[in-house]
Amino acid sequence: MRFVDTIEKKADGGVLSKQEIDDMISGYVSGEIPDYQMSSMMMAILQRGMNDVEATELTRAMMHSGDVVDLSDLPGVKVDKHSTGGVGDTTTLVVAPLVAACGGTVAKMSGRGLGHTGGTLDKLESIPGTNIEQSMENFKRIVRENGVCVIGQTGNLVPADKKMYALRDVTATVRSIPLIASSIMSKKLASGADCIVLDVKTGSGAFMRTKEEAFELAQLMTNIGKLAGRKVRAVVTDMNQPLGMAVGNALEVREAVQVLSGEVPETDPLYEVCMILGSQLLQMAELAGDDAQARKMLREKIDDRSGLRKLQNMFRLMGGDESYVCVERMDELVQVKKHVAVEALSDGYVSSMNAEEIGTAAQMLGAGRAKKEDPVDPAVGLVMKVRCGYQVKKGDMLCDLYVNDDSHLEEVVNLLHQAIHVTPELGETEPMVYGIVTANN
Ligand code: URA
Ligand code: CA
Repeated sequence: MRFVDTIEKKADGGVLSKQEIDDMISGYVSGEIPDYQMSSMMMAILQRGMNDVEATELTRAMMHSGDVVDLSDLPGVKVDKHSTGGVGDTTTLVVAPLVAACGGTVAKMSGRGLGHTGGTLDKLESIPGTNIEQSMENFKRIVRENGVCVIGQTGNLVPADKKMYALRDVTATVRSIPLIASSIMSKKLASGADCIVLDVKTGSGAFMRTKEEAFELAQLMTNIGKLAGRKVRAVVTDMNQPLGMAVGNALEVREAVQVLSGEVPETDPLYEVCMILGSQLLQMAELAGDDAQARKMLREKIDDRSGLRKLQNMFRLMGGDESYVCVERMDELVQVKKHVAVEALSDGYVSSMNAEEIGTAAQMLGAGRAKKEDPVDPAVGLVMKVRCGYQVKKGDMLCDLYVNDDSHLEEVVNLLHQAIHVTPELGETEPMVYGIVTANN
């Protein structure tokens, strides 16, 4: 079949066969299928959709376009988590060591931050000496010794996604749910874990702006996981405000260390989302029988500091100075030239926030990058002093800015006033967690 006929089939609403999907991905990666044909196909997929089997075959074809990590020589059940990207989202640095302390094996590859969302690798590098580029051999050695290691991607994982994502970005096809699901799941499946929990964010700071889209994406990704023979669950969580209070690299590591040290109350949203994600992993890995038991185990690993020790050991084994990784010393890593308070301009209630703008404000202070090549300043960012629903008086601090370079300061302060809405009446606040999704096929 010529590829033009396959495009026509999808444009007419047809269902692509495994063979057609395999030929499409191998042809596109080899260069035989040109960008203009692939972009037409992506648009047809955006408009016509894909059923679960097609999306699974697409995921599988993409996964096999490059290296596939084999973790079968590591002991225990291999677990992984993925977040679709948020602001103040430090769950990996809490969940990974806690689940390892409970007996799970966490061999995880993470990414860098881009735009308004932070990346785990940038956070890890805020601990001096930490080398996130480890060989596969070293990575596995650390996991064997410590039960948990988080590194940058090694090898050539899913080259099809790199090429397709770049094309989607310039052809208005990023938002296709089957294309997003196959992009995320191909990378997760190629990373080798048996059990995967997905944190699908929805709201002003997220990729999926509506709950309906977030649930649709969550359902498709869990279905793909099941068809591909893995255990996958998704949690749909709120991103209408930053998850944690801290937005910035060392600032977020400090907050993770605070959670792992028992210094963050159980009512805190970051704490709660970490518990839900950790609980799902422990249940999938059959290390806990139910949610109550899983939460009890996770809490014990906070109380006895064994989760914190896993994180400290991980940094040490990656060359980092673990002596910073404690509440007593993290403050040294967030020393900045000055602090600036963003204050409420009127009395009222924090009725809503724009999490994307808050992430952008932190990025403009130097915590994130606009382009892949940009450096980040680990110490800078902001710490929120309010959450949605809080009552404030004029002059109360809404957030505390950590500033080294004040060249965009005025713009940053204006952006934050725009992002944090203080109104006379208390609005409706969103729950932190909307639901847990499991495969339905
Ligand atoms: N994240 C991904 O990895 N891929 C997408 O397509 C969207 C978000
Ligand atoms: Ca004041």
